[in-house]
Amino acid sequence: MSPIRARCLLVICLGLVGTGCDNSSTPTDNGNNDTTPALLQISDFSPADSCRSCHPNHYNEWSGSMHAYALKDPVFAAVRAVGQSAYAFALDGACEKCHSPIGQRSGEIKWGPYNIADLSPQSQEGIGCDLCHTITAINSISNAGIVLSPGDIKYGSIKDPAANNFHESEFHPLYHESAFCGACHDLITDNGLELEAVYREWQQGGLAVTGKNCFDCHMETYQGPAATGGPVRTLHRHSMEGADLALIDFPFKPEQLQGVTKLLRSALSMQVVAPAAVVAGEQLNFQIKLTNDNTGHNVPTGVPFNRQMWLSVIVQNQAGTELYSSGGLDANDDLMDEHSAFPFRDTALFNAQATMLRADSTPTGATWEAAYLTNPSIRAGETRTIDYGFVVPSGTIGNLNLRVALLFRSFPPYVFRGLALDSLLPIPIISMAEDTVLIATN
Ligand code: HEC
Ligand code: HEC
Ligand code: HEC
Ligand code: HEC
Ligand code: HEC
Repeated sequence: MSPIRARCLLVICLGLVGTGCDNSSTPTDNGNNDTTPALLQISDFSPADSCRSCHPNHYNEWSGSMHAYALKDPVFAAVRAVGQSAYAFALDGACEKCHSPIGQRSGEIKWGPYNIADLSPQSQEGIGCDLCHTITAINSISNAGIVLSPGDIKYGSIKDPAANNFHESEFHPLYHESAFCGACHDLITDNGLELEAVYREWQQGGLAVTGKNCFDCHMETYQGPAATGGPVRTLHRHSMEGADLALIDFPFKPEQLQGVTKLLRSALSMQVVAPAAVVAGEQLNFQIKLTNDNTGHNVPTGVPFNRQMWLSVIVQNQAGTELYSSGGLDANDDLMDEHSAFPFRDTALFNAQATMLRADSTPTGATWEAAYLTNPSIRAGETRTIDYGFVVPSGTIGNLNLRVALLFRSFPPYVFRGLALDSLLPIPIISMAEDTVLIATN
């Protein structure tokens, strides 16, 4: 058995995402392994800097995006390093096929650890201009099934592009199809687990609920020239905000926070259903209804096993004394579930974070170990009702103040502590919705 064959088998046994062992290569779309010579060269692609002078808006927006962050992301690097050491580098390329497709397909990102600063700008850029604008076909709507045709022609959605002396331009219908995004945004492991399923969620429900595609919500339109001196057109913002924020020194962080906050606040509608009055000494029951009516997919989505979306609920009496609460944080800023280092358990907690499970049903934080996913995220179109209740102490007088907030953060602190990323704490918490209800006592 040749060494590469042995490695492919190892990878399959570990249930990893495909690493290019599947022979699905085409002349312009080569997988990366160490026997097939790399068919794509770094020099086939231009760095984003070379687009900047004529496309300054697109450049600026992209430079502060998670696409520009994909390889520089310290969380990505930390998780990859854990996987690498656990599996003797069997994970190589498995991550970069989406996080830096040029680095992976050219073979610049080799087996073993690498130093980002030593890579070419095209690889460091993660998902840069010339990667997206040379995609000419999708051969699988998952696991980076993109076909790249680098060269003079930059493909896009403008039907009558003006000529320029740097590149040729060509309209391609793919640049307004959700499959373009789904090719990288869906990750199916070798054992068939749909670990990241944004496109599938959209296709199986989100499209019908909203009638919108990825671009309609993630690439806001505005009027302006597509290139310096060109005609005014309808342009598409390339900052492509989602739910996550750059946590290192990175361009346009305040703008990103603003964009992410706006998007998160648009995602769900929240309704608090509570009685107008309650008798002191008796049970107060109330409900919170969350409706996913304005996203094209589950909330949270993407990497739902990292994202926390939870309800903070506080009831105070008229003097401001807390009578009931759920969704608070412990001294480590963790939610008070089984991940808390402290004994108290918040049994009423609503947290829509998914959990990855190994084949033996034990939880894991490692994507490459996952065999199942329990995913309580809210589906497109779904209304989730969460029930709360407690006994109002006898003798309580005046109005009770019920305060509810729907909160989001892209990672729980325990994950960062586990990855020795404590220096990136605290993780910003964004409020998606809030409401206050007064309940009389009698
Ligand atoms: C010398 C200036 C110049 C440079 C440098 C430049 N472009 Fe362009 N580009 C243009 C012009 C002009 C247009 C046409 C704009 C229009 O018609 O509104 C254009 C159009 C485009 C389009 C739209 C194509 C379509 O049909 O939808 C894409 C995509 C594009 N450029 C990508 C790039 C990328 C990627 C780079 C860097 C590798 C780059 N450009 C560098 C001038 C330039
Ligand atoms: C109707 C609007 C809408 C459509 C259509 C839509 N999204 Fe979203 N998307 C949102 C909103 C709102 C959020 C923020 C809430 C959340 O995190 O789910 C979001 C969040 C995301 C996130 C971050 C998720 C997380 O929780 O970390 C990704 C990634 C994403 N969308 C990708 C896509 C892709 C890919 C498509 C097309 C297949 C798509 N979206 C279609 C509105 C939309
Ligand atoms: C993640 C993929 C992706 C990346 C990265 C990306 N683009 Fe685009 N770009 C698109 C898509 C998709 C469209 C078309 C959107 C539509 O029509 O709905 C587009 C449209 C354009 C257009 C046409 C005008 C417009 O705004 O619709 C230009 C010019 C362009 N991009 C240039 C660039 C440059 C320059 C960069 C890097 C600084 C870049 N793009 C990075 C996906 C990408
Ligand atoms: C070549 C693969 C690739 C393509 C194509 C691609 N993406 Fe991404 N995208 C990624 C990766 C990888 C990340 C995560 C980077 C990180 O955080 O480390 C990402 C991040 C994002 C985020 C931020 C997620 C968050 O939690 O905030 C959004 C939103 C997004 N992409 C939307 C899109 C849309 C819309 C399209 C289609 C126009 C698209 N992407 C096309 C690979 C891709
Ligand atoms: C199929 C393409 C694909 C593959 C393969 C892939 N990722 Fe990702 N990854 C993504 C996309 C897309 C996102 C953004 C999802 C979101 O934010 O909602 C992402 C997000 C992440 C995040 C969260 C980043 C953040 O800051 O929020 C980490 C960490 C990560 N990936 C690590 C890895 C590692 C390690 C591997 C290899 C074991 C890997 N990924 C393989 C597409 C991929």
